[in-house]
Amino acid sequence: MSTTTTNKAAWLLTPKTTPLEIAPAPLPTPHKTEVVVQVHSVAINPADAAIQHLGVVLDAEHYPYILGFDIAGVVTAVGPSNKRFQPGDRVTALGIAYALRDTRYGAFQHYAVVDEPVLAKIPDSLGFNDACVLGAGLSTAADALFNRNAMALDFPKPGGNKPNGKTLLVWGGASSVGACAIQAAKAAGYTIAATASARNFDLLREIGAEYVFDYTSATVIEDVVDALKDKVEMAGIFCAIIDPAVLTQCAAISARLGGRKHVGTVRPPGFPPLENWPQDIEVSECNCCDVAKNEVGPKVWGSWLEAALADGSMKCRPRCEVVGKGLEGLQGALDLMFKGVSAKKLVVEIV
Ligand SMILES: NC(=O)c1ccc[n+]([C@@H]2O[C@H](COP(=O)([O-])OP(=O)(O)OC[C@H]3O[C@@H](n4cnc5c(N)ncnc54)[C@H](OP(=O)(O)O)[C@@H]3O)[C@@H](O)[C@H]2O)c1
Repeated sequence: MSTTTTNKAAWLLTPKTTPLEIAPAPLPTPHKTEVVVQVHSVAINPADAAIQHLGVVLDAEHYPYILGFDIAGVVTAVGPSNKRFQPGDRVTALGIAYALRDTRYGAFQHYAVVDEPVLAKIPDSLGFNDACVLGAGLSTAADALFNRNAMALDFPKPGGNKPNGKTLLVWGGASSVGACAIQAAKAAGYTIAATASARNFDLLREIGAEYVFDYTSATVIEDVVDALKDKVEMAGIFCAIIDPAVLTQCAAISARLGGRKHVGTVRPPGFPPLENWPQDIEVSECNCCDVAKNEVGPKVWGSWLEAALADGSMKCRPRCEVVGKGLEGLQGALDLMFKGVSAKKLVVEIV
């Protein structure tokens, strides 16, 4: 554990600026239930690349900004009301600078602040490069699936719930959000059907999907309906792909299957309403950072994730691909992310 008194960050100085500027940052202290984490590895999310390259989300007053959601590292300081963690704990975490517009919580620095609801200890056998892939993927999936204002599914429990006889279709199961959704919903007792490119079927099966479908097939809607209609009770569809055209495919499937007609999405609040959405199919949105303040964070990150990582039932998928080292390696990783990925999480080893 480091006892340094200095910090350094990869700063996004102004909108659409590349490269990030590596420069000193304040060394944060933790308030209340917060901890400070020495960041060992970070994973890159589509939003990081979009914020930098497209200049979206932030307003002028939020610059200079520190990007990054996904953190794995070691706790170096603990806030006065935090009883679960102590210096030296190896953790995975979600950085919520995006929600708070506060650079203390950005992942792309040597020392970042994380709050207890979105923090979990990791087993000694799990390396930081693997462990860092979960932050935004798991939190987005969890908010979409379990938030009572979204899909309101049953929560996962350590050891897994008994199968409840209901089937969830996860569209985009090879994405970061989708792979976490499959595993969390499976641990909550749901049978999983999922879509991906055929090359990623092994991944879907490895993390618990019972039915797999190739979304690139021209007959995918028929394929799903034929396999599931009258054979399973649907708990709904979770679509990890934000494209309205894909959501329309999910609505078409929901309309033709029995059970619950609900499409959970990864659309954040504030997006314009979906056009021509069928009235009899519920649709919900989510916000990954909300799990830091609603009941979902403690129930998923606190009660379930630590145990599931320890017993190996939650796997860090999609797998990490280390594409850079140090804060200097972040810009290349962001540029790669902006081009898109298939079933992998781009990771930078910070120390
Ligand atoms: N609301 C929030 O708070 C929030 C937070 C985080 C992320 N998000 C959003 O969630 C979405 C997913 O993020 P992510 O990090 O999980 O993305 P990602 O891992 O970068 O997604 C890449 C994957 O998407 C799959 N894919 C692409 N088009 C598809 C389609 N038509 N059908 C099925 N799968 C398809 C690809 O599967 P194959 O490789 O098999 O082709 C690929 O593996 C993004 O749009 C992101 O902006 C929202």
